[in-house]
Amino acid sequence: MSKFLKVALASAVLFGAGFAASAEEAKKFGLGRAALPEEVKAWDIDVRPDGQGLPVGQGKVSDGETIYNEQCAVCHGDFGEGKGRWPVLVGGRDTLKTHDPVKTIGSYWPYLSTVFDYVNRAMPFGNAQSLSADETYALTAYILYMSEIVDSDFELSKENFTSIKMPNEANFIEDSRPDTPVLADGKEPCMENCKEGEVKITGRARILDVTPEAATTTNKAGGID
Ligand code: HEC
Repeated sequence: MSKFLKVALASAVLFGAGFAASAEEAKKFGLGRAALPEEVKAWDIDVRPDGQGLPVGQGKVSDGETIYNEQCAVCHGDFGEGKGRWPVLVGGRDTLKTHDPVKTIGSYWPYLSTVFDYVNRAMPFGNAQSLSADETYALTAYILYMSEIVDSDFELSKENFTSIKMPNEANFIEDSRPDTPVLADGKEPCMENCKEGEVKITGRARILDVTPEAATTTNKAGGID
């Protein structure tokens, strides 16, 4: 038998076995049903940095301003400065290396897709997923304008979305720890005899005393003293 045929046959057997097993499991527990296409569509709303998942649509800064003033400013402030203790959306440029970094969309977020996805998924707080695609594009455009990334006549759309580069993108780098799938230095991860030089234990959690104490009569909840 050719190698190809053997592999094909083995896959067919494995596939068959897997199928039979899942049908068997379903029968055993009598639970669940296949998700409906509408359910999958409602759940599958993520938008990725390369634009994958973006809905068709567009929105102008000026339209975003109107919607923002009606639905967002009450918490995030007229200029994105944040009312009271609600989150700040704008400002903080050049503060990341200071003692008090202010992490906002303009100062910190690496990709615009996160803004669209977040607003679309979670805002306005308390009435999530009530915005249309065009409203979400307009709000994203307005947040970009408030962050001084685009001009007041800008219109954001599915087509020009990935042309927007966020100011802090270049400061995000690949995680080069050996157990991550992509290595910044491109080297294969070391799997044995990897220790370099002397390893010293400099502290232990027990000595640092980070474990909450058991509850006592005076401190019923327990906790760190
Ligand atoms: C009732 C108050 C409220 C309203 C209204 C509101 N938000 Fe928010 N917003 C929040 C809170 C609270 C968070 C943080 C949620 C969290 O961290 O879990 C947040 C987070 C955000 C963030 C992420 C900020 C960050 O740096 O993490 C964005 C962007 C945002 N809101 C945009 C909007 C937009 C656009 C609107 C209007 C459509 C809106 N919000 C309306 C309360 C509000």
